[in-house]
Amino acid sequence: MKILVVFDSRTGNTEKMAHAVAEGVRGAGVEPVVRKVDEANVDELLGVQGLILGSPVYYGLPTAKIKAFIDESVKFHGKLEGMVGGAFCSAGGTHTGSETTIMALLEVLMVHGMIVQGTSAKNHYGAASMGAPDDDVEVCLRMGERLAKLVKKLNS
Ligand SMILES: Cc1cc2nc3c(=O)[nH]c(=O)nc-3n(C[C@H](O)[C@H](O)[C@H](O)COP(=O)(O)O)c2cc1C
Repeated sequence: MKILVVFDSRTGNTEKMAHAVAEGVRGAGVEPVVRKVDEANVDELLGVQGLILGSPVYYGLPTAKIKAFIDESVKFHGKLEGMVGGAFCSAGGTHTGSETTIMALLEVLMVHGMIVQGTSAKNHYGAASMGAPDDDVEVCLRMGERLAKLVKKLNS
C-alpha cells in the first residue's frame, strides 16, 4: 500500500513537513512516495491508496503549482473514489491563512470522492506550521501515521 505525498516549497519549510509526514506514513507500515510538485506526475495517482497534498500558504490559498497539479488530476476524475486524502501547509504566521489553505485542499480531495479524516488532537484539519516545522514535526508525523492507518483499515 502506498500514499503519494505531493508538495510545493520555495524556501524548504513545506518540504521539511512533507518528509516528516512521509516518515509517519512509513512508521505505520505504508510506503510513502514523496514528490515535489515540479516532478509529480498525476499518473501516479492510479497506483496509490492515498494522496496527501502540502503547500505553502500564498495569499491564504495553496500555490498555483499545486493548483495546476490538481487541475491535471481531472484526467482521473471519478477514478479516485474512496482513496484517503489529507493536506498540510506552512505559513509565514499564525492565523494568516493556514486553515483556509488546508480546507481549500481538502475540498478538492472531497470533489474527487476521497475520504478525509480530521483529528480531535491539535491541528484538526491537517498539520500546519509557521515557517519551518521545528515545533510541528510531531504533528506531521502523527498526521502521516493517522492517514496510513486509515489506508490500511480501508484496504485490508
Ligand atoms: C507569494 C507569497 C504569498 C504568501 N502569502 C502568505 C499568506 O497569505 N499568509 C502567510 O502566513 N504566509 C504567506 N507567505 C509566506 C509563506 O507561506 C511561508 O514563508 C512559508 O513557510 C513558505 O513555505 P516554503 O518554505 O515551503 O516555500 C507567502 C509567501 C509568498 C512567497
